[in-house]
Amino acid sequence: MAESLVEVRGLTKTFKRADGTAVQAVRGIDLDIFKGEIFSMLGPNGAGKTTTISMISGLLTPTSGDAKIGGYSITAQPMNAKKLIGVVPQEIALYPTLTARQNLEFFGKMYGLGGKELTASVDEVLEFTDLRDRAKDRVETFSGGMKRRVNIGVGLLHKPQLVYMDEPTVGVDPQSRRRILDTVIRLREERKMTVMYTTHLMEEAQELSNRVAIVDQGKMIALGTVGELIQQVGEEDRLVLNIGEQGLPDSVLPKLQTVEGVTRALYDMPTQVSEGSQEVDAGKITIYAKRGRKALPHVIQIVNESGLEILSVEVREPDLEAVFLQMTGRALRD
Ligand SMILES: Nc1ncnc2c1ncn2[C@@H]1O[C@H](COP(=O)(O)OP(=O)(O)O)[C@@H](O)[C@H]1O
Ligand SMILES: [Mg+2]
Repeated sequence: MAESLVEVRGLTKTFKRADGTAVQAVRGIDLDIFKGEIFSMLGPNGAGKTTTISMISGLLTPTSGDAKIGGYSITAQPMNAKKLIGVVPQEIALYPTLTARQNLEFFGKMYGLGGKELTASVDEVLEFTDLRDRAKDRVETFSGGMKRRVNIGVGLLHKPQLVYMDEPTVGVDPQSRRRILDTVIRLREERKMTVMYTTHLMEEAQELSNRVAIVDQGKMIALGTVGELIQQVGEEDRLVLNIGEQGLPDSVLPKLQTVEGVTRALYDMPTQVSEGSQEVDAGKITIYAKRGRKALPHVIQIVNESGLEILSVEVREPDLEAVFLQMTGRALRD
Protein backbone atom coordinates (compact mmCIF):
# COMPACT_ATOMS: atom_id res chain seq x y z
CA MET A 1 0.00 0.00 0.00
CA ALA A 2 1.20 3.45 -0.85
CA GLU A 3 1.84 5.62 2.20
CA SER A 4 0.45 9.16 2.15
CA LEU A 5 2.83 12.03 2.85
CA VAL A 6 0.21 14.68 2.14
CA GLU A 7 -3.50 14.48 2.97
CA VAL A 8 -5.67 17.29 1.67
CA ARG A 9 -9.26 17.50 2.86
CA GLY A 10 -11.97 19.92 1.81
CA LEU A 11 -9.57 22.70 0.95
CA THR A 12 -11.15 25.96 -0.24
CA LYS A 13 -9.95 29.50 -0.80
CA THR A 14 -12.02 32.56 -1.48
CA PHE A 15 -10.22 35.80 -2.26
CA LYS A 16 -11.80 39.19 -1.71
CA ARG A 17 -11.13 41.62 -4.53
CA ALA A 18 -10.51 45.30 -3.79
CA ASP A 19 -14.03 46.11 -5.04
CA GLY A 20 -15.50 43.68 -2.48
CA THR A 21 -16.41 40.88 -4.90
CA ALA A 22 -15.32 37.36 -4.02
CA VAL A 23 -13.22 34.99 -6.14
CA GLN A 24 -13.64 31.32 -5.34
CA ALA A 25 -10.19 30.23 -6.44
CA VAL A 26 -10.35 26.75 -4.86
CA ARG A 27 -13.71 25.07 -4.31
CA GLY A 28 -13.09 21.97 -2.22
CA ILE A 29 -10.11 19.79 -3.03
CA ASP A 30 -9.45 16.36 -1.54
CA LEU A 31 -6.38 14.39 -2.44
CA ASP A 32 -3.48 12.34 -1.08
CA ILE A 33 0.10 12.51 -2.25
CA PHE A 34 2.05 9.31 -1.72
CA LYS A 35 5.63 9.06 -0.47
CA GLY A 36 8.15 8.99 -3.30
CA GLU A 37 5.84 9.95 -6.13
CA ILE A 38 5.79 12.85 -8.55
CA PHE A 39 2.29 14.23 -8.23
CA SER A 40 1.18 16.79 -10.79
CA MET A 41 -1.66 19.24 -10.83
CA LEU A 42 -2.55 19.89 -14.44
CA GLY A 43 -4.94 22.66 -15.43
CA PRO A 44 -5.29 25.82 -17.49
CA ASN A 45 -4.24 29.25 -16.22
CA GLY A 46 -6.50 30.39 -13.43
CA ALA A 47 -7.57 26.84 -12.50
CA GLY A 48 -6.39 27.33 -8.91
CA LYS A 49 -3.13 25.37 -8.99
CA THR A 50 -0.93 28.00 -7.33
CA THR A 51 -3.57 28.78 -4.72
CA THR A 52 -3.94 25.08 -3.87
CA ILE A 53 -0.28 24.30 -3.46
CA SER A 54 0.35 27.58 -1.67
CA MET A 55 -2.15 26.45 0.95
CA ILE A 56 -0.67 22.94 1.13
CA SER A 57 2.78 24.42 1.72
CA GLY A 58 1.59 26.88 4.33
CA LEU A 59 2.15 30.06 2.30
CA LEU A 60 -1.54 30.88 2.20
CA THR A 61 -4.23 30.28 4.84
CA PRO A 62 -7.18 28.18 3.67
CA THR A 63 -10.67 29.64 3.87
CA SER A 64 -11.78 26.18 4.99
CA GLY A 65 -10.42 22.65 5.04
CA ASP A 66 -6.97 21.44 6.00
CA ALA A 67 -3.91 19.63 4.73
CA LYS A 68 -1.53 17.41 6.65
CA ILE A 69 2.11 16.93 5.77
CA GLY A 70 3.64 13.88 7.43
CA GLY A 71 0.75 13.98 9.88
CA TYR A 72 1.20 17.68 10.80
CA SER A 73 -1.69 20.01 10.08
CA ILE A 74 -0.71 23.09 8.08
CA THR A 75 -3.24 25.12 10.06
CA ALA A 76 -2.66 23.71 13.56
CA GLN A 77 1.05 22.77 13.40
CA PRO A 78 2.41 24.94 10.58
CA MET A 79 6.01 25.01 11.82
CA ASN A 80 6.33 21.23 11.87
CA ALA A 81 4.56 20.87 8.54
CA LYS A 82 6.68 23.52 6.79
CA LYS A 83 9.94 21.88 7.85
CA LEU A 84 9.09 18.95 5.63
CA ILE A 85 8.52 21.06 2.52
CA GLY A 86 10.91 22.71 0.09
CA VAL A 87 9.31 25.49 -1.90
CA VAL A 88 10.22 26.43 -5.47
CA PRO A 89 7.88 29.33 -6.24
CA GLN A 90 6.76 30.52 -9.66
CA GLU A 91 8.41 33.91 -9.29
CA ILE A 92 12.18 34.00 -9.10
CA ALA A 93 13.09 35.31 -5.65
CA LEU A 94 16.87 35.65 -5.75
CA TYR A 95 19.29 38.47 -5.03
CA PRO A 96 20.72 39.46 -8.44
CA THR A 97 23.94 41.04 -7.13
CA LEU A 98 24.83 38.05 -4.95
CA THR A 99 26.54 34.98 -6.38
CA ALA A 100 24.81 31.61 -6.65
CA ARG A 101 26.63 30.40 -3.54
CA GLN A 102 25.81 33.57 -1.57
CA ASN A 103 22.14 33.24 -2.48
CA LEU A 104 22.09 29.65 -1.30
CA GLU A 105 23.91 30.57 1.90
CA PHE A 106 21.49 33.40 2.57
CA PHE A 107 18.41 31.23 2.12
CA GLY A 108 20.05 28.37 4.02
CA LYS A 109 20.48 30.65 7.04
CA MET A 110 16.83 31.61 6.77
CA TYR A 111 16.01 27.92 7.09
CA GLY A 112 18.08 27.86 10.27
CA LEU A 113 21.16 26.15 8.82
CA GLY A 114 24.65 27.27 9.79
CA GLY A 115 28.31 26.31 10.03
CA LYS A 116 29.49 23.08 8.46
CA GLU A 117 25.99 21.85 7.91
CA LEU A 118 25.20 24.88 5.76
CA THR A 119 28.41 24.62 3.74
CA ALA A 120 27.87 20.92 3.10
CA SER A 121 24.28 21.48 2.09
CA VAL A 122 25.17 24.34 -0.29
CA ASP A 123 27.92 22.24 -1.90
CA GLU A 124 25.57 19.36 -2.35
CA VAL A 125 22.86 21.54 -3.88
CA LEU A 126 25.33 23.21 -6.28
CA GLU A 127 26.40 19.74 -7.37
CA PHE A 128 22.86 18.44 -7.77
CA THR A 129 21.71 21.46 -9.81
CA ASP A 130 24.90 21.35 -11.88
CA LEU A 131 25.89 24.90 -10.91
CA ARG A 132 29.26 24.25 -9.27
CA ASP A 133 31.20 25.91 -12.09
CA ARG A 134 29.10 29.06 -11.78
CA ALA A 135 28.89 29.18 -7.98
CA LYS A 136 31.03 32.32 -7.76
CA ASP A 137 29.18 34.26 -10.46
CA ARG A 138 26.51 36.82 -9.72
CA VAL A 139 23.00 35.58 -10.37
CA GLU A 140 22.27 38.64 -12.55
CA THR A 141 24.62 37.17 -15.17
CA PHE A 142 22.63 33.90 -15.31
CA SER A 143 20.17 32.78 -17.97
CA GLY A 144 16.54 32.25 -16.97
CA GLY A 145 17.10 28.50 -16.87
CA MET A 146 20.09 28.82 -14.54
CA LYS A 147 18.18 31.12 -12.20
CA ARG A 148 15.45 28.52 -12.07
CA ARG A 149 18.06 25.96 -11.05
CA VAL A 150 19.30 28.17 -8.22
CA ASN A 151 15.68 28.54 -7.20
CA ILE A 152 15.23 24.78 -7.15
CA GLY A 153 18.44 24.55 -5.13
CA VAL A 154 17.05 26.94 -2.51
CA GLY A 155 14.08 24.63 -2.06
CA LEU A 156 16.36 21.65 -1.39
CA LEU A 157 18.76 23.18 1.15
CA HIS A 158 17.06 21.97 4.31
CA LYS A 159 16.61 18.44 2.90
CA PRO A 160 12.83 18.45 2.81
CA GLN A 161 10.80 15.30 2.19
CA LEU A 162 8.46 17.06 -0.17
CA VAL A 163 9.37 19.54 -2.90
CA TYR A 164 6.79 21.90 -4.28
CA MET A 165 7.38 23.24 -7.78
CA ASP A 166 5.00 25.70 -9.34
CA GLU A 167 5.27 25.72 -13.15
CA PRO A 168 9.08 25.73 -13.03
CA THR A 169 9.46 25.60 -16.82
CA VAL A 170 7.42 28.69 -17.69
CA GLY A 171 9.47 31.20 -19.68
CA VAL A 172 12.63 29.12 -20.07
CA ASP A 173 14.20 27.89 -23.31
CA PRO A 174 13.67 24.27 -24.43
CA GLN A 175 17.13 23.13 -23.32
CA SER A 176 16.74 24.53 -19.80
CA ARG A 177 13.27 23.07 -19.69
CA ARG A 178 14.65 19.62 -20.44
CA ARG A 179 17.18 20.05 -17.65
CA ILE A 180 14.54 21.07 -15.16
CA LEU A 181 12.37 18.08 -16.04
CA ASP A 182 15.39 15.80 -15.66
CA THR A 183 16.10 17.38 -12.27
CA VAL A 184 12.55 16.63 -11.16
CA ILE A 185 12.97 13.00 -12.16
CA ARG A 186 16.33 12.81 -10.37
CA LEU A 187 14.73 14.16 -7.18
CA ARG A 188 12.53 11.12 -7.16
CA GLU A 189 15.05 8.58 -8.45
CA GLU A 190 18.23 9.64 -6.64
CA ARG A 191 16.88 11.41 -3.59
CA LYS A 192 13.69 9.41 -3.08
CA MET A 193 11.83 12.66 -2.67
CA THR A 194 8.17 13.36 -3.13
CA VAL A 195 7.42 16.07 -5.67
CA MET A 196 4.29 18.18 -5.97
CA TYR A 197 4.41 19.73 -9.45
CA THR A 198 2.05 22.07 -11.25
CA THR A 199 1.79 22.70 -14.96
CA HIS A 200 -0.61 23.74 -17.68
CA LEU A 201 1.31 21.59 -20.18
CA MET A 202 -0.10 18.13 -20.60
CA GLU A 203 3.17 16.82 -22.09
CA GLU A 204 4.98 17.62 -18.83
CA ALA A 205 2.33 16.04 -16.63
CA GLN A 206 2.30 13.03 -18.88
CA GLU A 207 6.05 12.55 -18.85
CA LEU A 208 6.79 13.22 -15.19
CA SER A 209 3.91 12.06 -13.10
CA ASN A 210 3.17 8.95 -11.19
CA ARG A 211 -0.28 10.45 -10.71
CA VAL A 212 -2.04 13.52 -12.05
CA ALA A 213 -4.86 15.63 -10.67
CA ILE A 214 -6.62 17.53 -13.43
CA VAL A 215 -8.02 20.79 -12.08
CA ASP A 216 -10.34 23.32 -13.62
CA GLN A 217 -12.14 26.31 -12.10
CA GLY A 218 -11.03 25.49 -8.58
CA LYS A 219 -12.15 21.87 -8.66
CA MET A 220 -10.44 18.58 -9.24
CA ILE A 221 -12.12 16.93 -12.19
CA ALA A 222 -10.00 13.78 -12.45
CA LEU A 223 -7.28 11.98 -10.50
CA GLY A 224 -5.20 8.95 -11.35
CA THR A 225 -2.18 7.61 -13.17
CA VAL A 226 -1.81 8.82 -16.74
CA GLY A 227 -2.88 5.36 -17.90
CA GLU A 228 -5.99 5.37 -15.71
CA LEU A 229 -7.03 8.82 -16.85
CA ILE A 230 -6.60 8.00 -20.50
CA GLN A 231 -8.59 4.81 -20.08
CA GLN A 232 -11.50 6.94 -18.91
CA VAL A 233 -11.76 8.43 -22.39
CA GLY A 234 -11.33 5.11 -24.15
CA GLU A 235 -8.33 3.74 -25.93
CA GLU A 236 -9.01 5.31 -29.30
CA ASP A 237 -6.49 7.11 -31.47
CA ARG A 238 -7.51 10.17 -33.44
CA LEU A 239 -6.55 10.49 -37.09
CA VAL A 240 -6.73 14.06 -38.28
CA LEU A 241 -6.64 14.64 -42.05
CA ASN A 242 -6.21 18.20 -43.20
CA ILE A 243 -8.01 18.74 -46.52
CA GLY A 244 -7.71 22.53 -46.68
CA GLU A 245 -10.54 24.38 -48.34
CA GLN A 246 -11.77 21.54 -50.54
CA GLY A 247 -15.33 20.56 -49.74
CA LEU A 248 -16.12 17.06 -48.55
CA PRO A 249 -18.22 14.82 -50.86
CA ASP A 250 -21.17 13.26 -48.98
CA SER A 251 -20.03 9.72 -49.66
CA VAL A 252 -16.72 9.97 -47.80
CA LEU A 253 -17.70 9.82 -44.12
CA PRO A 254 -20.00 6.77 -44.50
CA LYS A 255 -17.21 4.94 -46.35
CA LEU A 256 -14.70 5.81 -43.63
CA GLN A 257 -17.06 4.37 -41.00
CA THR A 258 -16.72 0.95 -42.64
CA VAL A 259 -12.94 0.76 -42.10
CA GLU A 260 -11.99 -1.85 -39.52
CA GLY A 261 -11.46 -0.33 -36.06
CA VAL A 262 -13.05 3.02 -36.92
CA THR A 263 -15.82 4.06 -34.52
CA ARG A 264 -16.56 7.60 -35.72
CA ALA A 265 -15.67 9.90 -38.58
CA LEU A 266 -16.37 13.63 -38.36
CA TYR A 267 -15.82 16.61 -40.62
CA ASP A 268 -15.00 20.17 -39.56
CA MET A 269 -15.64 22.66 -42.36
CA PRO A 270 -13.03 25.29 -43.12
CA THR A 271 -13.79 28.35 -41.02
CA GLN A 272 -12.60 31.92 -40.98
CA VAL A 273 -10.10 32.43 -38.17
CA SER A 274 -11.96 35.57 -37.09
CA GLU A 275 -14.61 37.84 -38.49
CA GLY A 276 -13.51 39.66 -41.62
CA SER A 277 -10.22 37.78 -41.62
CA GLN A 278 -8.73 36.34 -44.83
CA GLU A 279 -7.16 33.52 -42.89
CA VAL A 280 -9.02 30.25 -42.86
CA ASP A 281 -8.72 27.25 -40.55
CA ALA A 282 -8.40 24.19 -42.75
CA GLY A 283 -11.21 21.69 -43.22
CA LYS A 284 -10.46 18.55 -41.25
CA ILE A 285 -11.62 14.98 -41.20
CA THR A 286 -11.26 13.45 -37.74
CA ILE A 287 -11.47 9.70 -37.41
CA TYR A 288 -11.57 7.85 -34.11
CA ALA A 289 -10.13 4.37 -34.42
CA LYS A 290 -9.12 1.54 -32.08
CA ARG A 291 -5.77 1.08 -33.77
CA GLY A 292 -5.21 4.27 -35.67
CA ARG A 293 -2.00 3.39 -37.45
CA LYS A 294 -3.45 0.15 -38.74
CA ALA A 295 -6.56 1.90 -40.09
CA LEU A 296 -4.58 4.73 -41.66
CA PRO A 297 -3.67 3.26 -45.10
CA HIS A 298 -7.26 2.28 -45.79
CA VAL A 299 -8.49 5.69 -44.61
CA ILE A 300 -6.05 7.47 -46.94
CA GLN A 301 -7.08 5.26 -49.84
CA ILE A 302 -10.77 6.11 -49.38
CA VAL A 303 -10.09 9.84 -49.19
CA ASN A 304 -7.79 9.77 -52.24
CA GLU A 305 -10.32 7.79 -54.28
CA SER A 306 -12.93 10.45 -53.61
CA GLY A 307 -10.69 12.91 -55.48
CA LEU A 308 -9.55 14.87 -52.43
CA GLU A 309 -5.99 15.90 -51.85
CA ILE A 310 -4.73 15.26 -48.31
CA LEU A 311 -2.53 18.15 -47.15
CA SER A 312 -1.37 16.56 -43.92
CA VAL A 313 -2.10 13.65 -41.62
CA GLU A 314 -1.72 13.48 -37.87
CA VAL A 315 -2.09 10.39 -35.70
CA ARG A 316 -2.81 11.36 -32.10
CA GLU A 317 -2.70 8.72 -29.44
CA PRO A 318 -5.04 9.23 -26.51
CA ASP A 319 -3.56 11.77 -24.11
CA LEU A 320 -4.43 13.96 -21.15
CA GLU A 321 -5.56 16.68 -23.55
CA ALA A 322 -8.32 14.30 -24.68
CA VAL A 323 -9.27 13.68 -21.02
CA PHE A 324 -9.55 17.41 -20.35
CA LEU A 325 -11.54 17.92 -23.55
CA GLN A 326 -13.98 15.20 -22.62
CA MET A 327 -14.45 16.38 -19.03
CA THR A 328 -14.84 20.10 -19.75
CA GLY A 329 -15.74 20.43 -23.44
CA ARG A 330 -12.80 22.81 -23.76
CA ALA A 331 -9.23 22.47 -24.94
CA LEU A 332 -6.55 22.69 -22.25
CA ARG A 333 -4.72 25.33 -24.28
CA ASP A 334 -7.57 27.87 -24.28
N1 LIG B 1 -4.46 37.20 -4.31
C1 LIG B 1 -5.52 37.04 -5.11
N2 LIG B 1 -6.56 37.87 -5.06
C2 LIG B 1 -7.64 37.71 -5.87
N3 LIG B 1 -7.78 36.70 -6.75
C3 LIG B 1 -6.76 35.81 -6.85
C4 LIG B 1 -5.58 35.93 -6.04
N4 LIG B 1 -4.75 34.90 -6.35
C5 LIG B 1 -5.38 34.20 -7.31
N5 LIG B 1 -6.59 34.73 -7.61
C6 LIG B 1 -7.57 34.21 -8.58
O1 LIG B 1 -7.83 32.86 -8.24
C7 LIG B 1 -7.95 32.05 -9.39
C8 LIG B 1 -6.93 30.93 -9.36
O2 LIG B 1 -5.64 31.47 -9.49
P1 LIG B 1 -4.31 30.60 -9.42
O3 LIG B 1 -4.37 29.72 -8.22
O4 LIG B 1 -3.17 31.53 -9.53
O5 LIG B 1 -4.44 29.71 -10.73
P2 LIG B 1 -3.33 28.90 -11.54
O6 LIG B 1 -2.11 28.81 -10.69
O7 LIG B 1 -3.97 27.58 -11.82
O8 LIG B 1 -3.09 29.66 -12.81
C9 LIG B 1 -7.80 32.99 -10.57
O9 LIG B 1 -9.08 33.37 -10.99
C10 LIG B 1 -7.04 34.15 -9.99
O10 LIG B 1 -7.33 35.34 -10.68
MG1 LIG C 1 -0.15 29.40 -11.10
